Amino acid sequence: MSNKITQLMLNELILQSKKSDTHLADKLESVLNFYTTEQKENQKTIKQNEYFLKQWDRRNILANQRDMQKDELLKQQSRLASMGEMIDAIAHQWKQPLNSISMMSDMLREDFKTGSVDEPYIQELDKNIHMQIDHMVSTLSEFRTFFRPSTKNEEFTFLDALKSVQVLMKDELISQGILLYLEIDEHLSIFGNKNEFKHLFINLINNSIDSFNEKNIRNRKVHIRCYEENSNTYIEVQDNAGGVSLEVIDDIFKANITTKKEGKGTGIGLYMSEQILKKNHGSINVHNTKDGALFTITLKQPTR
Ligand SMILES: Nc1ncnc2c1ncn2[C@@H]1O[C@H](COP(=O)(O)OP(=O)(O)OP(=O)(O)O)[C@@H](O)[C@H]1O
Ligand SMILES: [Mg+2]
Repeated sequence: MSNKITQLMLNELILQSKKSDTHLADKLESVLNFYTTEQKENQKTIKQNEYFLKQWDRRNILANQRDMQKDELLKQQSRLASMGEMIDAIAHQWKQPLNSISMMSDMLREDFKTGSVDEPYIQELDKNIHMQIDHMVSTLSEFRTFFRPSTKNEEFTFLDALKSVQVLMKDELISQGILLYLEIDEHLSIFGNKNEFKHLFINLINNSIDSFNEKNIRNRKVHIRCYEENSNTYIEVQDNAGGVSLEVIDDIFKANITTKKEGKGTGIGLYMSEQILKKNHGSINVHNTKDGALFTITLKQPTR
């Protein structure tokens, strides 16, 4: 029964009883008074509770807002960090084609002076410049894909990925006089991001190239083997470039560890390579052999 109806009924009772029994009427009236005061008290308490609830809600809302702001800040920080990484990575991959274009431009100026610039010369130069630019555009788009969360995964064979690395690095390998041997079990495949794996191999080969040049090595060789053992896939990248300096060998997979002069190395190549492998349930380690460095990649996920 609602409060209002109870109150009306009580009023009615008082009126009725006043006609017959005034004593009862007084008693009922005092009950009604007591009841009305109680009701007022209750309403006050309800209002107070409502006020407290509102305060509580406000506090919760503020706390949630603070949490959301913190999350947003963290997200922004990680976005900035990966943007920084992306810029480093692109700069790293663009170094070589930019050097080639700059060399071609120097050559053109010199050859023009000696009068050896004719139409076939320009056509050849144009072709070479476009090849380097295409490479830059493809690395740019590969890296954009690499740093986007929704990177495309697919089933690909290591042989396929390495053959395309061979194509990408063809000029560089020839001009540096490096023999690249591939000894790959052609069935071995992985479900992952092919571009990322290509960059991983490019990073390793570029490091060998740098080491060959630093130590003036002749008969330069990079040997890549890929085989399966105990349901793991192993990829070994071995060079005869003298090996990794013992001062840094324990830290080379950390970011910013480099032995190269400023402008020559950022120390990001192997760090990125390890990140790619971690994403694919893999790992990488290094040790020196008598001739050079041997990097061993282990991939634990089923490869077929
Ligand atoms: N094949 C190798 N032979 C000898 N030293 C190596 C080899 N690979 C890596 N290193 C050493 O490990 C260091 C770190 O390599 P990493 O690729 O991470 O950076 P970097 O080559 O110095 O710079 P970046 O790759 O950013 O241009 C190198 O500076 C070099 O001292
Ligand atoms: Mg490197």
